Amino acid sequence: MGQTRRDFLRQVGITGGAGVMFHTMGALGLTTAANAAETPPFTPLTRDALHGRGTKSVIVMGGGIAGMTAAYELLKGGYSVTVLEGRDRPGGRNWTVRRGTTFTDLKGQTQTAGFSKGQYMNAGPGRIPQMHVTLDYCKELGVPIEVFTNQNADAFLYRENVPGALNGVPVRHRAVKADAYGYTAELLAKATSQGALDAELTAEDKDALISYLRSFGAINSANEYVGGGRRGYAPEPGAHLEAGTPLPQYELSDLFRSTLGNYFSFEMGFDQAMMMYQPIGGMDRIAYAFAEAIGARRFRYNAEVVAYQNTTDGVAVTYTTANGPKTVTADFAINAMPPHIAAKIPSNMPAGVVAALGSVSRTNAGKIGIEYNRRWWEEDFRIYGGITNANTNIGNMWHPSYGYHGKTGTMIGYYNTGANANFYGALTPAQRLTEAVAQGKKIFGDVYGEGITASFSQDWASAKFSEAAWVSWPGAVGGQTGAGYRSLLQASGNIYFAGDHLSHAIAWQHGAITSARATVEQIHERVTA
Ligand code: ALA
Repeated sequence: MGQTRRDFLRQVGITGGAGVMFHTMGALGLTTAANAAETPPFTPLTRDALHGRGTKSVIVMGGGIAGMTAAYELLKGGYSVTVLEGRDRPGGRNWTVRRGTTFTDLKGQTQTAGFSKGQYMNAGPGRIPQMHVTLDYCKELGVPIEVFTNQNADAFLYRENVPGALNGVPVRHRAVKADAYGYTAELLAKATSQGALDAELTAEDKDALISYLRSFGAINSANEYVGGGRRGYAPEPGAHLEAGTPLPQYELSDLFRSTLGNYFSFEMGFDQAMMMYQPIGGMDRIAYAFAEAIGARRFRYNAEVVAYQNTTDGVAVTYTTANGPKTVTADFAINAMPPHIAAKIPSNMPAGVVAALGSVSRTNAGKIGIEYNRRWWEEDFRIYGGITNANTNIGNMWHPSYGYHGKTGTMIGYYNTGANANFYGALTPAQRLTEAVAQGKKIFGDVYGEGITASFSQDWASAKFSEAAWVSWPGAVGGQTGAGYRSLLQASGNIYFAGDHLSHAIAWQHGAITSARATVEQIHERVTA
């Protein structure tokens, strides 16, 4: 569990993760294992992928991305579908907050977003890697996309309470990266040329490695890293005789002890490496496109599932309406609610299934959107999109990947998880802004607190119908090979399950979509058998 969780947090860039130094040989492709075959790309279901027509009826419990994918694909196959959604909108955690969005959390705190027209924050998912099937659905549903900048050489990194001279000093991503790569190259080149790797490398390989390290770390012919232009200049190269003066490098000891170099494992992550994408206008364009394709008449909003069961020949699901509870029946149901939510709802599921649903470990995440009356990160710092990362309670700041050069802009002032998310979650929305601004000033100075025109914060743990940002499967219940997890991969009578929690892309829409498609295929196989 500890290891899985740490790996996961590393993937989402919340912690530094393993350092470049430790992963140099493997991650940089120096081992033969790096030549392993690539996995084939995912392909979306086409309209005729479900051979034969299913005439059965299916109730989908939960109108998030998994539930809507299931409904959408079932409709292609001829099924009759009803989606029951507790919220008053489609998408679940896929949620974009804009001007006028009102939300009341489980503690009764209400916020109304006062963002200007065209400004928004994605409170849930915000980035899509190229290989995720989510993009294929954007294409199929006609949702236009644009680049999401997940790495920016000119964004900042900030570490405090660390040893050495870089403690509490905001530094540019490109400067740290140049130094981390440079010193790593220097040490490895020296070790190689001094014979320390003679047992590992032939003479030819040593030469090849040193040649590679020269380009990787910009080390000189004496195998020394002496900084250089890749880390930045003051002044910068310009007209006529202005050749630029490279900024002096940080000391090796300060750099590595600061842990700043550990950040670069993030951009090597399978699903965090550029290029990445976002729907133009907000992530919820995907949710609304799904909902429109499914059809409003098949949706019940404000329909909270309060009971569900297998009957002798199908399913019965009871949900809330303005006029009291209502029960609908169908041949099958797909439970596409978060597992810990589903576990609390009365049903006649086998006890083991209910226990499996409830056995997940929840992770909280929080975000705050802060709108400023000018785009100071672009104007003053030349940062156009990307992420500033800190080891303080804010975790990550996202510079917006839309609206460049516009009149105003909306920063994600924090995107954090776990204890940091819980810390902010315990504050009132006004206190969250105050704390986020105090933390942001450490990196950007007073400008961070100036010209704020609106803010909105989300704490997923206190959001009804979610009560977490995502879940994981603890080692104590066998992780994702255990009997509990496996029990949810098949039908319990006429009731199936779907969601990102039943995939190996947890906390990604890709996981929700692929899980839902697998469930649809199971139903269709059964119906057409
Ligand atoms: N997939 C989520 C992210 O990228 C967790 O932050």
